[in-house]
Amino acid sequence: MCGIAGYIGKNEASEFLMDALKRLEYRGYDSAGVAVLDKNGEINCVKSVGKINALEKKLKEKNLSGRSGIAHTRWATHGHPSEKNAHPHCDCEGDIYIAHNGIIENYKALKSKLIQAGHKFKSETDTEVITHLIESHFQGNLEQAVLNALKHTEGAYAIAVISKNDPGKIIIAKKSSPLIIGIGENEYFIASDPSATVGYTDKVIYLDDGELGIITKDGYKIISIIDSNEIHKDHCKVDLDVSEVQKGGYDHFLLKEIFEGPEVVKNSIRGRIIPDEGLVKLGGLDVLDQKKLRNINRIIIIACGTASYAGLVGEYMLEEYAGIPVEVELGSEFRYRKPIIDERTAVMAVSQSGETADTLASLLEAKRKGALTLGIVNVVGSAIARETDAGVYNHAGSEISVASTKAFISQMTVFALLTVYFGRTRNMSLTMGKRITEEIQKIPSLIEKVLESDGQIKILAKKYSGYKNFLFLGRKYNYPIAKEGALKLKEIAYYIHAEGYAGGEMKHGPIAMIDENFPCFFIVPNDSVYEKMWSNMEEVKARNGKIIAIATEGNEDIKDLADDVIYVPKTLEMLTPILTAIPLHLFAAYVGIELGCDIDQPRNLAKSVTVE
Ligand code: AGP
Ligand code: GLU
Repeated sequence: MCGIAGYIGKNEASEFLMDALKRLEYRGYDSAGVAVLDKNGEINCVKSVGKINALEKKLKEKNLSGRSGIAHTRWATHGHPSEKNAHPHCDCEGDIYIAHNGIIENYKALKSKLIQAGHKFKSETDTEVITHLIESHFQGNLEQAVLNALKHTEGAYAIAVISKNDPGKIIIAKKSSPLIIGIGENEYFIASDPSATVGYTDKVIYLDDGELGIITKDGYKIISIIDSNEIHKDHCKVDLDVSEVQKGGYDHFLLKEIFEGPEVVKNSIRGRIIPDEGLVKLGGLDVLDQKKLRNINRIIIIACGTASYAGLVGEYMLEEYAGIPVEVELGSEFRYRKPIIDERTAVMAVSQSGETADTLASLLEAKRKGALTLGIVNVVGSAIARETDAGVYNHAGSEISVASTKAFISQMTVFALLTVYFGRTRNMSLTMGKRITEEIQKIPSLIEKVLESDGQIKILAKKYSGYKNFLFLGRKYNYPIAKEGALKLKEIAYYIHAEGYAGGEMKHGPIAMIDENFPCFFIVPNDSVYEKMWSNMEEVKARNGKIIAIATEGNEDIKDLADDVIYVPKTLEMLTPILTAIPLHLFAAYVGIELGCDIDQPRNLAKSVTVE
């Protein structure tokens, strides 16, 4: 779930390790630690609860020198956040240290066997079991001991291991949780994602499940955990730059990423629209047998959280304009269903990180049943991207803030592209294709206009930050935006509760909550359900509910009912959600700041949920 880093090479290990932990902070964590092998062959380990700067303070008192080491930011799954449970963990004698992302699901059985064999445990974590397993198999060769140990484990892991009795190497291994090797000049970097290696190298190798790496200062070797055969992998070039992982003049990554919206849409559509033909070109799908694509008669979109709301927008788009039946399934639910899948079913996984365990597991389940698997993913080379038959990268750039905003805007944009892509091979006319693609190309400038309401939204955030409950209401294309607006407020301004509801559902219960203390956001652009939403606003007004409306520029009538109005420019109904989401993202950010919340790393949240 969290962050792993490792270093071996010509420089002091702690320099990269601490820098990497800071780069990985955005993934959300509760504690951290570093272990470095010094020139006397001793492994020195420092751990702390809380933020990385607490660890830095400790490191000042205990200088960790040495040219190989590992580090970790923990998001607790087994054992409270505490120094004792922080990683790296060691074996009985402190000879072997490990950093681990993931969950060892059979740790209880393994732990009792190891205790019976005389092993002494220091923590409550599942992770510590791995070190004692390695210890019990160690006969002088670390990689062999790790290989034998892993064969006993069930669950997910990305691990980095060092040993004072087989020094000069770091052993890494991967199953479900992400892990990469950065290739430097006489130095090698290990991390759970490429943002940690930015500025050190742009050459990375993505480990795949079932692979183990042996990294020394002179090179690396990757073997299969199953049969120990060597595996040759090419490196990828990572086109991130340091500025992307910095804040670019904003106080928070979250605000930086919301304001990147126009650029993100430009990058998501770049080279993908053929305006004169009203066509969309998606290289990632063009590799597929086009006859097979045309033969698809059902799409199941699988995603979690915000990505699932982008999927709901995509469902409306694809059904209305491409004429394909679509259903959206939560990753955490789909995997336990008995889905009806055949060779004409396409399963589409939507994921910013490309590492979300529930989405990945559902994708693999669909693949097992013969579905054509497609992906809409932001992180290049991530597990979901690698597991799908084909897909479309968002090109939204590195999303550091735990709350997903720019990736969400990009996901909806990519669904608009997919709608034209699929539609024009079905019953969408040239005229309609041109109309949609021309409007998509205007979206960046329309988002610029929405962002001009920033000052007004900041004022509204101050005005409404004292309320404890909000209801977000929308219909059709903007029903998912009601859910997204509520989720963003909950996860960023986490002292407030919010619900996102279909406008027509309010009378089936939630309206009982409405009074002057229960503000309602109405996402109510000029669209095909405007009149229906107007009635819902009347119902709220009649109960003294406060109304904040997201409406289309020029609509003066809305002021008869709404206490406050945030305007968005006119666009095609199917594209309105891309615009109406922005004010809600800004509102959540400014309320969070008003309430003193950590809006980039909200409490209890992790950027990439790689555990179930
Ligand atoms: C988004 O703001 C949330 N942090 C969360 O719901 C997120 O969208 C979800 O975990 C899915 O993540 P993914 O897109 O990386 O798969
Ligand atoms: N399951 C391990 C623990 O609870 C690792 C959690 C993580 O991925 O950070 O310590």
